[in-house]
Amino acid sequence: MANRIALVTGAMGGLGTAICQAFANDGHKVVAAYHPELDKKDVWVAEMEAAGFKDFICVAGDISKIEDCKAMVAEAEEKAGGPIDILVNNAGITRDRMFGKMEKDQWDAVMSTNLTSLFNMTKQVSTKMAERGWGRIINMSSMNGVKGQAGQSNYAAAKAGVIGFTKSLGQELANKGVTVNAIAPGYVGTKMVMAIREDVLKGIVDAIPMKRLCKPEEIGGLCSYLASDISAYMTGATLNINGGAYYA
Ligand code: CAA
Repeated sequence: MANRIALVTGAMGGLGTAICQAFANDGHKVVAAYHPELDKKDVWVAEMEAAGFKDFICVAGDISKIEDCKAMVAEAEEKAGGPIDILVNNAGITRDRMFGKMEKDQWDAVMSTNLTSLFNMTKQVSTKMAERGWGRIINMSSMNGVKGQAGQSNYAAAKAGVIGFTKSLGQELANKGVTVNAIAPGYVGTKMVMAIREDVLKGIVDAIPMKRLCKPEEIGGLCSYLASDISAYMTGATLNINGGAYYA
């Protein structure tokens, strides 16, 4: 059903952009949440407008800080004219390093942005969704949270945590009309993946049975489905979308 209000974190990244566009095409009102230090907000908005997406509402905040999340959701609801129906916890970072060389700040940054943020954001919307009897919470995990990945003990731990959070909250909200699901993408053609060293990335793509990276819009399509009424019977699930690279 169209005309829901959706908030997407990390909205101005590769995946976030595709998710915002998919929701707008579905007729939802979209709130694009972004990090206040991101300097490309105006460029992103101009690009979206040029592509025909003129109505995105933008709110800034650091999702690793609960006070920012509270303020961001309040601002989003005021600007959108109603409560958040669909939350996509999409924002994430990498600080890849072999564990022997990993510094504590690289662990902490990934944990707070990729996992604690789910507490911070979901806390602002889940009770109200349950009271209204309808809601969709979509959490971005990763194939590497399912299978592990050398160089990513921090990221894989956080993304595995996302799955545990999703299963638990899914059970808690199952009889309230609110579904909670995770998506575990393999390697998507975004800036994050393109930052991998060329030789390493070549090895990764060679090992994918489909021999290509995932397209951001393929994740957008999955979010579209999870945000819809027809997905109502699915909760606590982790959807693998990885070109055949791994089966959980
Ligand atoms: N398994 C086991 N050992 C490995 C390995 C692997 N996959 N890859 C490398 N190693 C070993 C190497 O053989 C090497 O061993 P020696 O020192 O004994 O020779 C050692 O680890 C160091 O390897 P590197 O030369 O690669 O080390 P580096 O410090 O230059 O780089 C790294 C480390 C930055 C982690 C780099 O290996 C890397 O970028 N790896 C890819 C990590 C990755 O897949 N990230 C995904 C990012 S995208 C994303 O996260 C999105 C998503 O959700 C999927």
